[in-house]
Amino acid sequence: MKPVQRRKWTIRFIFVTVCMALGLLVFNGISHIGSVQAADTPSAKKPLEKAFPSSEKCKRCHLRAFEEWEASAQSRAIVTTPFRVSLDRYLSSADPKEQGLCFRCHAPHSLEYRHELPRFIQEVQSRDPQMDGVGCPQCHLIHSIDEKSHPPLPQFQLGTTIFGGYDKAAQNLAHQSEKIPLYRQSQFCVTCHERMPEASTIPNDLPDWLGPWKQSKAEASGKPCQSCHMPEALDESANGEKIRKVANHSFPGRFGKVRAEAVQLDFTTTVKGDTSEVSVKIDSLVPHNFPLPHPGWSRLVVDLSVLGKNLKRVYNEQRFYERVLGGADGKQTVFDFEAKKVLKDTLMKPEESRIETFTFPTPKDAPSMDVIVTMTYAPLHGPREFLAQVEQEAPLGQKDRAFQTVQIAQKKSNVSLNK
Ligand code: HEC
Ligand code: HEC
Ligand code: HEC
Ligand code: HEC
Ligand code: HEC
Repeated sequence: MKPVQRRKWTIRFIFVTVCMALGLLVFNGISHIGSVQAADTPSAKKPLEKAFPSSEKCKRCHLRAFEEWEASAQSRAIVTTPFRVSLDRYLSSADPKEQGLCFRCHAPHSLEYRHELPRFIQEVQSRDPQMDGVGCPQCHLIHSIDEKSHPPLPQFQLGTTIFGGYDKAAQNLAHQSEKIPLYRQSQFCVTCHERMPEASTIPNDLPDWLGPWKQSKAEASGKPCQSCHMPEALDESANGEKIRKVANHSFPGRFGKVRAEAVQLDFTTTVKGDTSEVSVKIDSLVPHNFPLPHPGWSRLVVDLSVLGKNLKRVYNEQRFYERVLGGADGKQTVFDFEAKKVLKDTLMKPEESRIETFTFPTPKDAPSMDVIVTMTYAPLHGPREFLAQVEQEAPLGQKDRAFQTVQIAQKKSNVSLNK
């Protein structure tokens, strides 16, 4: 071998050795393969950080999935200001035994490490939690789902095996891989997206969040949640691996690409002398309730604006699609963990078609009017002191995402008024 070539080989050898060592280091904590521990005995368990390694550890080999996830809502599950502020409110009235309620979905490792709950709570309150909420292992260590419980309970298997949807995952030095059909089924997602668990402050007869999604056309035609919210593409599954089918990990929902497929919006305008009527037809293409009613302040706005002479707004009306909840005192509350009953429900049911009719005075002295119908996700709303606290604690203040409206669809038309 020529010296240059030898040096190349030496470098390659060192590189491979270092990679192996790093790969093994990532999961050196995952030593007892496949042991499921039902009882929460602190002494028998490896440290939490080893059982549920940080998503940063997966980033080394899964850069694409990591970057998509990092931009997703799931990666912010325990760090948004509305979450922290509403968690505080929940904790101030919760039964001490039920303090883990929110963490069950927002940081599900808490189900396995219940004795560390005070630390999780304190970390969230410190605004800089060490752990991810819904990170890679929080999903990829789910081995099965206990469907007897409502919402269904994820069952973790804390070993060296990572579960997923691949038939034949390539070998790697960091983890074993096992295919589980669950990863391509809606039930996987429903564990965290179905409903609030029953608690002493939460009755169990409140309706589910998703509505009759099982009867939707999407589900019946074999399109699980993943088909829309983890759309398929061809890319590297792990750095340097061959190109194959991968699933998008940015979980588009309120933000992202699926929005374009949320509704079909159309309207007709009839001028009847002094009054005009706009009849709006909204077809929801969403195979579950829309919007989903958790958190309790979540709602859509259908806004009608009419512009008359010089594009001046002469009429405006808004309708809300939401689940209005009532607390123990019978008064309206936006906190679903304080809700005792539903006062009003105008959520769009799965794949529902709805007609909204608006009547308003026909603008005078204008040759035509512009009719604009807009559907948006509404910004955060609720009691004044709650909004003030969120604004005060959010690093961006009023500019926090929670205060922004997000447009879903819009349609405009110019209607001639020449008689
Ligand atoms: C371990 C619990 C858990 C599982 C399992 C889970 N999610 Fe989520 N998901 C969450 C939480 C918590 C949030 C909200 C994060 C936040 O914004 O605070 C969320 C947010 C989302 C969002 C964004 C919502 C928005 O308003 O834009 C989408 C979309 C989503 N999840 C889809 C899915 C799909 C599809 C699956 C199944 C492949 C799934 N989730 C499985 C807990 C989970
Ligand atoms: C059954 C699982 C589950 C439980 C329990 C749960 N959440 Fe959520 N939470 C979710 C999911 C899923 C989303 C995303 C919802 C969506 O966009 O449709 C979410 C979204 C949120 C959001 C809006 C996103 C954000 O981070 O700002 C807030 C706030 C929130 N939850 C607060 C709470 C609080 C407080 C509790 C406890 C009282 C709680 N949640 C309990 C699953 C849960
Ligand atoms: C909310 C749950 C959830 C989270 C969080 C999550 N995944 Fe996934 N992941 C899934 C599901 C479900 C599939 C299977 C999707 C399918 O086949 O339709 C999957 C598939 C994969 C795959 C194989 C297909 C592909 O897209 O390459 C890899 C690799 C993967 N995930 C890595 C990661 C990494 C790394 C992270 C963290 C950065 C992560 N996942 C976070 C649920 C999740
Ligand atoms: C040393 C590199 C390396 C590290 C670190 C690593 N992986 Fe992987 N992973 C791979 C390779 C290689 C594959 C096989 C990809 C293929 O077959 O296309 C894979 C496959 C997967 C799959 C698909 C498994 C299946 O059966 O569907 C998932 C999910 C996954 N990894 C998640 C993770 C998570 C979560 C972490 C962090 C806890 C992680 N990986 C850390 C290299 C790594
Ligand atoms: C046929 C495609 C499709 C399927 C299947 C589907 N969704 Fe959606 N989902 C949507 C669309 C479209 C939206 C609205 C997005 C928007 O307007 O930004 C949405 C919104 C969401 C949101 C954001 C919150 C909200 O209120 O809009 C979450 C969370 C979500 N879906 C979870 C799920 C879960 C869990 C399943 C499986 C039970 C599922 N979705 C199945 C299309 C789908």
